[in-house]
Amino acid sequence: MEQRNLGQQGLKASALGYGAMGISLAYGPSDENEGIATIRRAHELGVTFFDTAELYGQGENERIVGAALAPVRDEVVIATKFGFDFTGTQLGLDSRPEHIREVVDNSLRYLGVDVIDVLYQHRVDPNVPIEDVAGTVKEFIDAGKVRYFGLSEAGESTIRRAHAVQPVSVLQTEYSLFERDVEILLPVLRELGIGFVAYSPLGRGFLTDQAKPGAAYDPTDMRSWDARFQPGNYEKNLEATRSLADLAATKGATVAQLALAWLLAQGDDIVPIPGTRRVQRLEENVAAAGLALDDTDLKQIAEILPTGGFGARYPEGMLPTWD
Ligand SMILES: NC(=O)c1ccc[n+]([C@@H]2O[C@H](COP(=O)([O-])OP(=O)(O)OC[C@H]3O[C@@H](n4cnc5c(N)ncnc54)[C@H](OP(=O)(O)O)[C@@H]3O)[C@@H](O)[C@H]2O)c1
Repeated sequence: MEQRNLGQQGLKASALGYGAMGISLAYGPSDENEGIATIRRAHELGVTFFDTAELYGQGENERIVGAALAPVRDEVVIATKFGFDFTGTQLGLDSRPEHIREVVDNSLRYLGVDVIDVLYQHRVDPNVPIEDVAGTVKEFIDAGKVRYFGLSEAGESTIRRAHAVQPVSVLQTEYSLFERDVEILLPVLRELGIGFVAYSPLGRGFLTDQAKPGAAYDPTDMRSWDARFQPGNYEKNLEATRSLADLAATKGATVAQLALAWLLAQGDDIVPIPGTRRVQRLEENVAAAGLALDDTDLKQIAEILPTGGFGARYPEGMLPTWD
């Protein structure tokens, strides 16, 4: 698979990466062995960029990703994230340097690695200056325990301030045919030479042939409450997805492949990380790396979804603010 450069510090990734979150969080019950088989198939098919986080099961997802990739550790890039506080009744943020140090030590242990390839701050913590966060990650980079620094859901001012302390290689934020807000940040990323990782590139599974109304999902599946799957938005998103599927069919592709190819066509500094727990879907998604879209295709896609889908990507209170 094509390799893409992310940032200016030497980070390279396969054009399509793999997001492991669903094996432990967000989309209802999972099977660990199926997850491991899917990760290994991704590697066989040329995926080299794997995404996990402390948040995804407090070590559980890192353990699974580490175990799946142990036989090929030197051929892959493993990214994880810190920044949450699990001690209260509600999930909080905690990017205090002492907490980052504790989480990184845990991540190294759960992943079973000597070095974390990409370490992201998962959410900006309004109580900790970003300079302190970047300085703490820099300590790890200087000590050889982390290779590259990433931010997730950060805005322009935070990105610039962090980058001045420790160069940022990647920003990771939701980006798909449904979610276009992050496009306002692409110019600053390009000015600073920072790469972009598109999470939930399939609109949490809507941009496939498998979307169902929210009420049809398991109650532990976030799509049971995600606004894009609820009545009113669901029908409009489904209609757009069907039109995209018709266009994809003319190219011998699926709608999921079209959605991923569209992201790849937005710039060679962009790497989408679709998530799936099934080998067959993984194979379908990876094949999108070979789907070229021309100007006519892109124009037709823009006519179907000129500004994105219908319904917010997070409920009020969970939606990150980009300072
Ligand atoms: N930084 C952040 O705050 C943040 C937030 C969210 C996600 N992420 C990262 O981004 C990765 C990807 O995002 P995501 O998993 O939320 O969303 P996504 O990739 O847009 O969609 C994943 C969902 O789509 C389904 N799916 C995938 N391929 C499919 C296909 N070809 N046909 C039908 N259904 C398919 C999956 O189901 P099955 O698993 O059942 O196949 C899963 O439910 C995550 O794994 C995580 O690593 C980061």
